[in-house]
Amino acid sequence: MSGNLRIDGARLVSRLAALSRIGATPEGGCRRMALSDEDRRGRDWLVAELQGLGLTVRIDAIGNIVGILPGREEGPAVIIGSHIDTVGTGGRFDGALGVVAGVEILATLREAGLAPRRPMAVIAFTNEEGARFHPDMLGSLVWAGGLSLAEAESGHDAEGHQLGQELARIGYDGPERPGFLKAHAYLELHIEQGPVLESEGGGLGAVTGVQGITWLELTLTGRPSHAGTTPMAYRKDPGLAAARITLRAHELTGLIEGQLANVGVFRVEPGNVNVVPERIVMTLDLRNPDDARLAQAEAAIRAFCAELAEEDGIGVACRDLARFPATPFTESLIAEIERSAGEHGLPIRRMISGAGHDAQMMARLCPTAMLFIPSVGGLSHNPAELSLDEDMIAGANVLLSAAWRIAND
Ligand code: GLV
Ligand code: MN
Ligand code: MN
Repeated sequence: MSGNLRIDGARLVSRLAALSRIGATPEGGCRRMALSDEDRRGRDWLVAELQGLGLTVRIDAIGNIVGILPGREEGPAVIIGSHIDTVGTGGRFDGALGVVAGVEILATLREAGLAPRRPMAVIAFTNEEGARFHPDMLGSLVWAGGLSLAEAESGHDAEGHQLGQELARIGYDGPERPGFLKAHAYLELHIEQGPVLESEGGGLGAVTGVQGITWLELTLTGRPSHAGTTPMAYRKDPGLAAARITLRAHELTGLIEGQLANVGVFRVEPGNVNVVPERIVMTLDLRNPDDARLAQAEAAIRAFCAELAEEDGIGVACRDLARFPATPFTESLIAEIERSAGEHGLPIRRMISGAGHDAQMMARLCPTAMLFIPSVGGLSHNPAELSLDEDMIAGANVLLSAAWRIAND
């Protein structure tokens, strides 16, 4: 029966277009940062879509939105999910595709009058990006029991807004307990966000797991002084220290196999042209598929910071923003996805995910796998992010086949 099931491709594309109009930016991307007004409007749109399909819509205390299609039997659900929040300068596809594909898959089953044996559900998780509130994957982490609601709600954004208050302000502090719906399996369709699939000539990616992620916030404190009168040897300049740390992090990527590093936030205080800075707040995003190597990179950075503190008299405070180990997905589900791609006559290759995903948190709870489609130019976290309609439709159809089989096994 599942072999003949197909989503309505044009409707998938138009649903995604409707969501991308919410928070659309002049550059062609999307800005729906977690718990912002744009996020609220995106959520309202999603809830209306789910209600329009006659699904049961539930919202949990951290704002995760769940649409449920009952099964012929009670019990754990096959959950399809992703996120609709974006980074500040995001694209139209990251996360949104996975949620909209989930909606489309349930719509297809509904219209075909098909009830799966197990319940099926679509979830949009809160604050996957971590661009406004830390850590990333926050909604799915709370769902999986890895972070308490109270801790999650107490987080602040860079302007001092508290997560719990923002959640209440937009009206998405729902009544359900996070994790209320037991999961039999979790599946996520996502754009690759990198160049591998495209450079291999297209096709799909069966994701074997997600690499480890460590986010650090470094606060470097020196002595503000006059840029014209203070001899160089007398300065305590955290700007110089920050530049050296950035360079060191990049050097490490050449020394430690698989290591990546990014400095994405660099805030200079007081930020005047003629004042040696008093303080620099910077972030380091370190990733590696191998946890031991990731720990080695972090240790090297910490040792380097200690040297700077000792030799240059710079104060260094380090705070963890996120720390997630490398997460392998479930072999049997990866094989299901490959089998479904084969049924659709589509090429698929195994690959690891460079980006973090809600699936990484859900893997703590249940068998989990992901499916990637190509990203044009490998671009993501960029307004020019693009995936082709035909790839999105193919990905959603493969996910439908896999989800349907798993929901009936
Ligand atoms: C999530 O988008 C990440 O930073 O990997
Ligand atoms: Mn994403
Ligand atoms: Mn992202």
